[in-house]
Amino acid sequence: MIYPITVYGDPILRKVTTDIDQNYKGLEKLVEDMFETMHNAEGVGLAAPQIGLSYRVFVVDLSPLSEEEPSLKDFVKAFINPHIIEKEGNKVLMDEGCLSLPGLREDVYRFDTIRIKYCDTNWQEFDEVFTGFIARVLQHEYDHLNGIMFVDYCSPLKKRLLKGKLTDISKGNVTTSYRIKAPKA
Ligand code: NI
Repeated sequence: MIYPITVYGDPILRKVTTDIDQNYKGLEKLVEDMFETMHNAEGVGLAAPQIGLSYRVFVVDLSPLSEEEPSLKDFVKAFINPHIIEKEGNKVLMDEGCLSLPGLREDVYRFDTIRIKYCDTNWQEFDEVFTGFIARVLQHEYDHLNGIMFVDYCSPLKKRLLKGKLTDISKGNVTTSYRIKAPKA
């Protein structure tokens, strides 16, 4: 099922999510729906709050970027109850977009390397280190689980310049190829 994507201004995007219980019955279906919603919107990452659910889950599919970077071909993963336990290395600047901030791209500093613990949909536990672009995407999606959006990292001046655009997004005055749920529409 394809969900509408919640956009800037929706309080769900500002809530800290809770871990999914191992007895939660709908996990496979939830992850399947998240992949379907993300692919429909041509995104490479999607966190549960972006479909209106305050759970600690995000999905990532970097295979569309494999033409530029062949190593990303098989990077299709669901992260259940992820916790970043270390961040290190240089902070690298690169522009980012977000399905909940349609039309916006801004430069964001991210750590080059992270260590993250998470489960897959079979509750197998992983403790892995990721670097570079993958680490960036995971930090972006992880932020969503803690109520953080990339515009939060912009300078006060930049934020002031973006204010009108953000208001438009929250009112649904924005063109998207996917269905959105705007809080002030
Ligand atoms: Ni995002």
